[in-house]
Amino acid sequence: MSEDAPTEVTPYERFGGHDFFVDLVADFYRQVADDPVLRPLYPEEDLGPAEQRLRMFFEQYWGGPTTYSQERGHPRLRLRHGPYAIDEQARDLWLAHMRSALDHRDLPPELDDEMWRYLVTAAHAMVNVHDNLRPAKPNLPTA
Ligand code: HEM
Repeated sequence: MSEDAPTEVTPYERFGGHDFFVDLVADFYRQVADDPVLRPLYPEEDLGPAEQRLRMFFEQYWGGPTTYSQERGHPRLRLRHGPYAIDEQARDLWLAHMRSALDHRDLPPELDDEMWRYLVTAAHAMVNVHDNLRPAKPNLPTA
């Protein structure tokens, strides 16, 4: 009995478990609901299901329950964001709302940092429309 390996504390638990992720994502989506740039990107009228998907994904990513993949399969997040035009402005607004949602939690600085660095990296990877690469004019034949 006493020879059992100590169970490892997951980041999910260190962040505060289910309640932490519920509150973080609820706070984030309250801001998305009022954001004139981001809100139109979300296809469903009810943001509740999207909120739940993001929450389940975060919980799984940080070592919590794997309900996300049981319900949605492999995350393939770049692919799943393909239908939505995510430019630098959308990314920065998404991150600003996450920053604000994190500011309302009470994480110790090192955990806040860990979460924030992940979100920044992930959000940068999700950009699929680059404003500076948009042609100023339609591409016309040069000859
Ligand atoms: C960079 C700005 C981002 C924008 C504008 C954005 C926008 C969206 C939109 C419009 C959806 C569809 C709503 C739905 O039906 O679920 C979505 C889904 C989702 N997003 Fe994002 N997203 C961004 C970044 C991220 C990042 C950084 C993550 C994860 C770290 C993420 C995780 C997810 C997940 C898990 C889903 C649900 C996927 C599914 O199972 O269908 N998103 N996002």
